[in-house]
Amino acid sequence: MRLIHVDAIKEGDIIARDIVSYEGGILLKSSSKFKEVFREKLIERNIYEVYIEDKYSEGIYPQEAIDPRIRLQIDMDIKNEFDKLKDNLDINVSSISNITKILVDELSKEHVVCDVMDLKINDDYTYQHCIGVGILSTIVCRKLRMREDHTHKIVMGALMHDIGKIIIPKDILNKPAKLTREEYEIIKGHAELGYKIIEKNGGLSPITKLTVLCHHEREDGSGYPLGKGEELHIGAKIVGACDVFHALLSNRPYRQALSVQEVTSIAQKEKINAPVRETIESVLAFYPIGSVVLLSNGDVGIVEKNFVQDVTRPQVRVVYNMPTNKKHQYTINLQEDYTIHIVQKMPDIPI
Ligand SMILES: [Fe+2]
Repeated sequence: MRLIHVDAIKEGDIIARDIVSYEGGILLKSSSKFKEVFREKLIERNIYEVYIEDKYSEGIYPQEAIDPRIRLQIDMDIKNEFDKLKDNLDINVSSISNITKILVDELSKEHVVCDVMDLKINDDYTYQHCIGVGILSTIVCRKLRMREDHTHKIVMGALMHDIGKIIIPKDILNKPAKLTREEYEIIKGHAELGYKIIEKNGGLSPITKLTVLCHHEREDGSGYPLGKGEELHIGAKIVGACDVFHALLSNRPYRQALSVQEVTSIAQKEKINAPVRETIESVLAFYPIGSVVLLSNGDVGIVEKNFVQDVTRPQVRVVYNMPTNKKHQYTINLQEDYTIHIVQKMPDIPI
């Protein structure tokens, strides 16, 4: 499959993955044929990139960091816990701890590259966002070689970091326009609301609780609610940074998802902890599998495989040459050939 811009899809193209709306419903099922009437509907929902299946991209599949069956189970379990939480505002620690253990065990492999596919950026926001931040935080803790028990406590915080949003009215959370000052203040309250939900729970570590409370704080003392500054716990630094990356990579009601390249350049200007930011940048696939890229020799190809050694130099299946306007096919591993580099991501193969 390959990932193309919505403007490049043609009538009859085969959709390779379910296209899910922000609200969680399926807009287009995988294997269905694209029709012109869908284009506007996708754009209206800020969905600008779609995976399609065709002969050029046959056999190319995103390398999921987590086994899809385990991922489905995690999605269902977290959604279940969040739904229950809406009713009784009581967190089931053993259930969140079990989910954390599955996630941390699953991502214990050394060479994990995180593809945008792993982050499910189009789905129902709060709970998928918490899982996405949980995945990124696990990978970061692993890369930073943190202690197993600390990793577990921080990832538990990551999975629950935004639970305070459960109490915030949805029309404010999902407002497709600029927030008023009052609305912004209400949203800012989610960090303390989340902390209040878990505060009295004796089964949770202080690290987990602080991570939830302080994930919008920065080490220079900015952010909210406490302004802990240099005392900010590493858990809050990690989850706060993963939160920024995941939010920018996600579709929101008021803007489309940004590319990894755009997010990386924005994140460099943010006040997030530099080693944590660099660690995230080193594991996020710069060109997700299926992306169409232009190489410095004029060839155009589809990204086949990413490598944790350098996420900007994937293996590419070349299918076309721009200067000669000719089709041709070979595979180049940019980890092995440093004479060629990627110039830019393309909306599609220009054939
Ligand atoms: Fe948050």
